[in-house]
Amino acid sequence: MAKKAINVGIIGFGTVGTGTARILIENADIIQRRLGAPVVLKKISDLDVKRDRGIALGNVQLTTSAQEILTDPDIDVVIELIGGYKPAKEFILEAFRNKKHVVTANKALLAVHGEELYAAAEKAGVTLGYEASVAGGIPILAAVRSGLAANNIESIYGIVNGTCNYILTLMTNAGRKFDEVLKEAQAMGYAEADPTFDIEGIDSAHKLAVLTMLAYGTPVKFDDIYTEGISKITPLDIDFAKDLGYKIKLLAITKKVNGEIEARVHPTMLPETYPIATVDGVFNALAVVGDAVGSTMFYGRGAGDMPTGSAVVSDVISIGRDILAGSVGRSPITAFRDRKVLKIRKMDDITSCYYLRFSALDKPGVLSRITGVLGKNNISISSMLQKGRKVDEAVPIVMMTHEAVERDVRKALEEINKLDCVSGATVVIRVEDGSK
Ligand code: NDP
Ligand code: HSE
Repeated sequence: MAKKAINVGIIGFGTVGTGTARILIENADIIQRRLGAPVVLKKISDLDVKRDRGIALGNVQLTTSAQEILTDPDIDVVIELIGGYKPAKEFILEAFRNKKHVVTANKALLAVHGEELYAAAEKAGVTLGYEASVAGGIPILAAVRSGLAANNIESIYGIVNGTCNYILTLMTNAGRKFDEVLKEAQAMGYAEADPTFDIEGIDSAHKLAVLTMLAYGTPVKFDDIYTEGISKITPLDIDFAKDLGYKIKLLAITKKVNGEIEARVHPTMLPETYPIATVDGVFNALAVVGDAVGSTMFYGRGAGDMPTGSAVVSDVISIGRDILAGSVGRSPITAFRDRKVLKIRKMDDITSCYYLRFSALDKPGVLSRITGVLGKNNISISSMLQKGRKVDEAVPIVMMTHEAVERDVRKALEEINKLDCVSGATVVIRVEDGSK
């Protein structure tokens, strides 16, 4: 008998769970018209089922037991929205064993245990949807998986963490303090349960692992991704960036270079006229370059209940379509039927332009000692900036370099940081230069 409805259960009624439930309930009509059958939210499980989430739940059953969803024979799709590794992974594997499809927004889990989960889903003959795991409401995974499937992907550059972009935007545009703005982002439901994941770039790296896997059809070891966050970005560097015509953004970058994959997350100075440099607040943006299509840009809200819920529900609809058409497995979970292991390039081998801020004594001969070490290591300076003069005290001196090899920069700085005229470690920010 033809299936009449797609039944779903949500585990985790927090920020994203609430947005997802609201969309399933309030947009039930349009979802049914698009799918040709209703999506029925049967059950929601959370540790706290007493708290009012501000949604009229109608016939939806609330339970504190995830098992009630995982073992309910009527439920077709389990939506995992509790986050973290444990018990999220066990819940998903149990859902697969019970022949249920799963939708998740859990990029941390996918980045670390993705391979095990993809294999388990395929073995069970069910689907794992994870559109919401990268860039909130932006349908970037669908774009890479389907819309750009004809292309060799050359590169993806993106702002993929709403919390960091929110913090950097308010530090830059309103001179606000890091800690204060982070608290705001947490209050708005943007931040991870452990906000270190956001500010240290870990969440962006989780998302980059998922994106890289989908773009290049290669498994990615999360630890191979170079990861640096925004916690050391100071108002001084933001001001220097402004003076030089740049903005600082936390970028996730993946690109193919000589058959190897570069995958890295770090604060990046972008010319302020670059489209991605103008992306502010919780918004995310990704530039994807394909060999056939050329440059494309994707922009939207990267976090929050409704944008992320939008991505979760899009996966439910897509799975519903496959169920109704009897074509589950038509699209491979990892977007490639034939995957190849590609080498992740060592960070030492990358090339970039650099912003270097030295703290050095303002006296004759100091500049030539610094530039001497840079020159010896094949690093040439494109511009220099010094603000203020203080006799016998260290002052900030900024140098912008032409393209250089990361290994050379590290070697030069090791030597420069030991000079008696330099105090403290040099600040390094990679620069995507408009001239490239
Ligand atoms: P929340 O902390 O707001 O929600 C998680 C909910 O799950 C909480 O209510 C929690 O209860 C509940 N929970 C924890 N353990 C269990 C369990 N064993 N059974 C049932 N419920 C449980 O997190 P978010 O909604 O923000 O995030 C959920 C997932 O979505 C994460 O993987 C996150 O990385 C991802 N994500 C989040 C985005 C966002 O904007 N917030 C955007 C994109 C992805 P309690 O609070 O009592 O622990
Ligand atoms: N903490 C994440 C962010 C949530 O700020 O982008 C969306 O993945």
